[in-house]
Amino acid sequence: MEMKQKVHQEAFYRLSIYVKDTRLKQMECYVQHGDISTYEHCLLVAYYSFLLMRKLHVRCNEEELLRGALLHDYYLYDWHEKERWHRWHGFRHANIALKNALQDFQLTPIEKEIIRKHMWPLTVIPPTCREAWIVNIADTFISLIETIAYRRRSSRMLEKWILQPLLEIYGYAALTKKRF
Ligand SMILES: [Fe+2]
Ligand SMILES: [Fe+2]
Repeated sequence: MEMKQKVHQEAFYRLSIYVKDTRLKQMECYVQHGDISTYEHCLLVAYYSFLLMRKLHVRCNEEELLRGALLHDYYLYDWHEKERWHRWHGFRHANIALKNALQDFQLTPIEKEIIRKHMWPLTVIPPTCREAWIVNIADTFISLIETIAYRRRSSRMLEKWILQPLLEIYGYAALTKKRF
């Protein structure tokens, strides 16, 4: 199997294990962009973070990278609702996500840093570990793709960058056992 293919497969496989986590699934109720739920968005961010790390040969704690990415938007509300306290979503949701995640999961310092800094430069203080930088970049990238794909109604973009990876992850999930 080609090297590139192998990295994709490994990412699909490793993420498929998390697909069974009912806590993460709570994010399915909230829309990120277009038809994409926050849950799917987090799976995509984790997937692209993994690829980016491998592509750039960045030394990372891989499991913490994945877990941090999966939880980076664990804020659990609909930011499109026009309530007053949602107005500062861009600035505040990282801290809300961190607070929620701490209630439901045991987090390492790296995982906390990933969640806390994923909106940098809005957070002013930059990320202090490689894992948080990677997730910051992957999140910016896929958020842009999600927005553009829906604005332009580009089914090709949607297919290539969003639907295909998600289908692969779900496909693997059907084959793997629950571990968490
Ligand atoms: Fe976010
Ligand atoms: Fe995000």
